[in-house]
Amino acid sequence: MSLLDKIDTKNIPSHIAIIMDGNGRWAKERGLDRTDGHQEGVVAVRRIVEAASRAGINFLTVYAFSTENWNRPNKEVEALMELMVYAIVKETPDLIKQGVRLLVIGDSNRLPTKTRAALDNCINETANGTTITLILALSYSSKWEITEALRNMLNDIQSKRLRVDDLNEKTLSNYLTTKGIPDPDLLIRTGGEKRISNFLLWQLAYAELYFTNVFWPDFDAEHLYQAILDFQCRERRFGKTSEQIEKEQKE
Ligand code: FPP
Repeated sequence: MSLLDKIDTKNIPSHIAIIMDGNGRWAKERGLDRTDGHQEGVVAVRRIVEAASRAGINFLTVYAFSTENWNRPNKEVEALMELMVYAIVKETPDLIKQGVRLLVIGDSNRLPTKTRAALDNCINETANGTTITLILALSYSSKWEITEALRNMLNDIQSKRLRVDDLNEKTLSNYLTTKGIPDPDLLIRTGGEKRISNFLLWQLAYAELYFTNVFWPDFDAEHLYQAILDFQCRERRFGKTSEQIEKEQKE
């Protein structure tokens, strides 16, 4: 029996965000190169997209490459970019078949032309997917995103397209790369570390956090369902009291 059968279909997180950590350590444990860990990481992404679709998740955001990852050794960065192109090109037909819509967030100006072209092509070809939206955070960091949002907002204020009086949380959200995407309900981080690492800082304000020691290449459908079951045991109060939440649920 799969844990999928235990999931309450009336309380599915609409959006799950994942920090996929542990590829390097997974490879090291096996005497392999770090790149082998990333390759196995791609297999895990594929597995988890399918598993998430089966569970009825609408949005899945995966942290594939952070702004800070540009500081890794050149060899590893190049290998990751190559792997990204290879995986995207290879998977596009299957993504279309599965009804997956691909979106990318992050500083695409820093990506190699080949990587950008492969991503743009996949985004266009999967634009009509309605089963699940897969959001790749690539060359992404939250501080970069918020700085860009501020820059664009100030430009709009200067050119009178936006008034200071109209500024509110919703306005700021609309300047972020995640405009139109609901905030994540659940953040999963694999690989044992318990931090957010500059990922979706604004958007995760009320997400439930789930940390697991499992390395990303080993993370499978059952691990995902376990995280969803854990989420379903949490009481999401959004700053209110338990009593208020109970009352609202009865109404
Ligand atoms: C973190 O593990 C993982 C990354 C920095 C890269 C993750 C990228 C992928 C799984 C490829 C995704 C590709 C597509 C097309 C979706 P780490 O290297 O920091 O591991 P460590 O902490 O054990 O060293």
